[in-house]
Amino acid sequence: MTVQFMLNGTPVTVDDADHHTSLLQWLRNSGFTGSKEGCAEGECGACAVAQVLPRAEGGSRLEPLNSCLLSLADAHGREIITVEGVAPKATSGGASGSASRPLHPVQQALVERGGSQCGYCTPGFVVSLFCEYYRAERTSPDPEAISGNLCRCTGYRPILDALESLPTPAADDVTERLSRDRVALAELSHATPARTFLRPTTLTGVVDALRDNPKAVLLAGGTDVMVEVNQRFRRIDSLVALDGVPELKRIEWTRDELVLGAGATLSDIELALRDAQADQRALEMFDQLLPLFSSRLIRNRATLGGNLATASPIGDSAPALLALGARLCLLSATGERFVPLHEFFAGYRKTVLQPGELIVDVRIPRPFPVLQRFYKVSKRPLDDISTVAAAFALTLDDSRAVRSMGIAYGGVAAIPLRASDAEAQALGKPWNAATQQAVTLKLTELGTPMNDHRGSADYRRAMITSLFERFCADTAAPASLRSKP
Ligand SMILES: Cc1cc2nc3c(=O)[nH]c(=O)nc-3n(C[C@H](O)[C@H](O)[C@H](O)COP(=O)(O)OP(=O)(O)OC[C@H]3O[C@@H](n4cnc5c(N)ncnc54)[C@H](O)[C@@H]3O)c2cc1C
Ligand code: FES
Ligand code: FES
Repeated sequence: MTVQFMLNGTPVTVDDADHHTSLLQWLRNSGFTGSKEGCAEGECGACAVAQVLPRAEGGSRLEPLNSCLLSLADAHGREIITVEGVAPKATSGGASGSASRPLHPVQQALVERGGSQCGYCTPGFVVSLFCEYYRAERTSPDPEAISGNLCRCTGYRPILDALESLPTPAADDVTERLSRDRVALAELSHATPARTFLRPTTLTGVVDALRDNPKAVLLAGGTDVMVEVNQRFRRIDSLVALDGVPELKRIEWTRDELVLGAGATLSDIELALRDAQADQRALEMFDQLLPLFSSRLIRNRATLGGNLATASPIGDSAPALLALGARLCLLSATGERFVPLHEFFAGYRKTVLQPGELIVDVRIPRPFPVLQRFYKVSKRPLDDISTVAAAFALTLDDSRAVRSMGIAYGGVAAIPLRASDAEAQALGKPWNAATQQAVTLKLTELGTPMNDHRGSADYRRAMITSLFERFCADTAAPASLRSKP
């Protein structure tokens, strides 16, 4: 298939592109060896490149992504800047006539603060810092900007120093580019008897593509799919990419629900919640969950639809959404249906999705519960997969009796679990030690935890009750036990 995109301001055409090839592999084979391959699975950020994206307020913005997890086919129509494109264009070298290329301020900051030793991670840091430098809302340094970049020899302090020293962007080629709009992703359709790669730009187009290719695999952010392609050498005959469909990125507050498009990235959701009205915002569960979900580089691509469709027992969004009582809108050529999330998981890595069906959006009922907590137990506090995750959502009525209670866990069974029996112990009862004890007792019967390298079955079982006890302790302050207005 022929793929065309903008690379460092220059149009590029790739003939014979294969959708199993990552953008990183193509870059390195084409001489753009500044982007490094450290892991090929989204863990290190050495392959980070910047993407120009539309900005809701008009104009454009930059966002870094791991090029090892972007299919070359899905690069079609994008505007990419690699580390080679960061420094300003060469200027004439005066009397000697030689061209000199000044460093970009982010490169200068890394040089001055000693932010590089072996240099393997440096191109990735440069790209992440480059995106942060031009972030329109930047008022203070955001360490999250480099949370997906690992350095094994310099140590992070000098790199953080460089981040903290970044000045306000001066007018340059990049600010001029970002002042202009970014066009939407174009459709791409490539079908041969051996391989199909389709990127529709409407929901109807996706449904038609799935109807015509019922065995096709959907590709959203690719943070699961491309890891399997790169690391397990999975070959996929037919891919349908979702990133070109605006309907799947919809984030909307209706009177009764918050609707999160299945194709909205976690970073999109983070931004939308930050910019929402105060009364809409009270989705503390996501404020707690999102910073614990991998790194900014992954969240810039990972979607809720992808996280739920994998049906991973340790996926982080499932417990949070189960406790919040979310439901899913599913769509296929035969029509639309709504499924409560607790009925969506059918077994280990299995869902009730039928062939040709996709998740369109996730709907969280409003008003949101007053008390919400998400806890993730993992070997590292940040950027790690859960051993156990737990989510709790509680609302009391005026007499301080339990009006609604949501309790859910990941990592304690083959599927993410909602603890309905335990919730029932609390409904209508006063929120006191006796009720909490009854819930705890019921929770001891929950799940079928297993042993693996992340934790033993006994440890996981102990976490079920101790995380609930933590919720009770965290929310014990009388001020936090007010009922919902
Ligand atoms: C380094 C790294 C760290 C990670 N850390 C975490 C973590 O902390 N917590 C966590 O939970 N996960 C984590 N993950 C896993 C992954 O990022 C998430 O599962 C992510 O949400 C998947 O979304 P995606 O859009 O990238 O899915 P994709 O890889 O595009 O797709 C995943 C699956 O979902 C299907 N799919 C995608 N969209 C839809 C849809 N709309 N309807 C139906 N099916 C669909 C695809 O066909 C595929 O089978 C991590 C992954 C990596 C590589
Ligand atoms: S090579 Fe490590 S994140 Fe891409
Ligand atoms: S400078 Fe060596 S890994 Fe970062």
